[in-house]
Amino acid sequence: MEKGKRFSIITFGCQMNVRDSETMRSILLRRGFEEDKPENADIVLINSCSVREKAANRAKIYAREFKRKGKKVIFAGCVAENEKDRIFELEVDAVLGTRKIHKVGDVAVSLLEDRRIMEVGFDEIPSFDEIPEPTHPVTSYVNISIGCDNFCSFCIVPYTRGREIARSFDSILNEARELVKKGSKEIFLLGQNVNSYFDEKTGYDFADLLYHLDKKLDGNYWIKYLSPNPRDFSYKVFKAIKESTHISHWFHLPLQSGSTKILKRMKRDYTKEEFLDLCYMIREGFPDATITTDIIVGFPGEDDKDFEDTLDVVEKVRFEMAFMFKYSERPNTPARRYKDKLPEEVKDKRLQVLIEKVNNIIGERRKEMLGRRFIILTEGESEKFENHTKVKTRENIKGVLKGKFEPGKFLIGRVTEIIGHTPIFEFERFCDYKGE
Ligand code: SAH
Ligand code: SF4
Ligand code: F3S
Repeated sequence: MEKGKRFSIITFGCQMNVRDSETMRSILLRRGFEEDKPENADIVLINSCSVREKAANRAKIYAREFKRKGKKVIFAGCVAENEKDRIFELEVDAVLGTRKIHKVGDVAVSLLEDRRIMEVGFDEIPSFDEIPEPTHPVTSYVNISIGCDNFCSFCIVPYTRGREIARSFDSILNEARELVKKGSKEIFLLGQNVNSYFDEKTGYDFADLLYHLDKKLDGNYWIKYLSPNPRDFSYKVFKAIKESTHISHWFHLPLQSGSTKILKRMKRDYTKEEFLDLCYMIREGFPDATITTDIIVGFPGEDDKDFEDTLDVVEKVRFEMAFMFKYSERPNTPARRYKDKLPEEVKDKRLQVLIEKVNNIIGERRKEMLGRRFIILTEGESEKFENHTKVKTRENIKGVLKGKFEPGKFLIGRVTEIIGHTPIFEFERFCDYKGE
């Protein structure tokens, strides 16, 4: 291998970043670079996340550390876009913004010539032509839109990913078809607010997109999507899901807060009652549904009563899973201006109370799975449970299957035991994506 041409990618953050890393990896491989472990690499690419301060700091610490070890560092992703100048000063070798990932090949070549470089900004519309080789044996991510126009008052994403741009229907269909042909069993449609998808050429909205992806591809696959804003969940989308065979009945509905007052301050545009109604409608329409969520505690102005409202929604919906965060103030976001910030101890305490409640409910939910049969998809060897295979249900509950199975198989598994929150499945028979 030519000197200086080994690279390694370290990815923080959400599935968008995972997908961007896959794209950059494909480009670098095509340009003659070779992938290796970070310790052996000449170039370390850090794909950063800015959503909470901790994640952003971790990426910066990594960058400094790899620089100290004498590596060339390309700092990419959301922090790169948002804090470009500061990051460049950190003495990284290159800064690569979220809409410039297609330039990673040129950037890496310039590093070979010892030139430092900064590529940032939203002036270009990405072509979406780069279809990366999936790095996961079973799941593939497909962007349906990039950017976000919602400007929730706590969130940095609109500033790190720019305005929302929908990808064309044809391009999504082609990529999904290609991936299914190559053996992907789970197509994850990605957008910051998938429900606002609209393709001008065909006039298709998100419901139409789901409808066509369900009908127009041949094969054995599930469709999942992230994330729908609860505000924009239309009856048409429900209908498309209801009438489909490939689309998962997993609904990830980021609640953020159960208090209508706080939701208003967050600029989420739905009320506690509207969120609850949506969940009741899902539970009624899809008895096998999984509802998961994201919750932020300690947003400025959140009082005991507001927090009680969040706990109340948690009790009423009984989420199958939740990601819970302490509010983290982010640069440029409107919520920075709120004066009534909460002390760290209050945020800590509330997070602890919330986690405990959610965990109890998840425990109960998992117990309800005991003895039942599920269609599951094998993903690979479990690291935690010896002689077990990692699996997930169609509704996206993760678990393990007794024994060793090849990745990418659909099968019927019966839950025989729950360890912690992990359901343990026993093999019953192989099947297709529908369980037949
Ligand atoms: N577009 C997605 C969210 C992406 S960010 C959506 O609207 O669903 C993922 C999650 O991070 C959010 O749902 C939120 O719960 C959390 N988050 C975002 N900004 C945050 C902040 N400033 N502090 C704490 N958590 C935050
Ligand atoms: Fe952030 Fe809101 Fe956009 Fe999600 S919808 S990325 S929370 S601004
Ligand atoms: Fe994703 Fe983090 Fe950016 S959550 S969109 S990588 S700020």
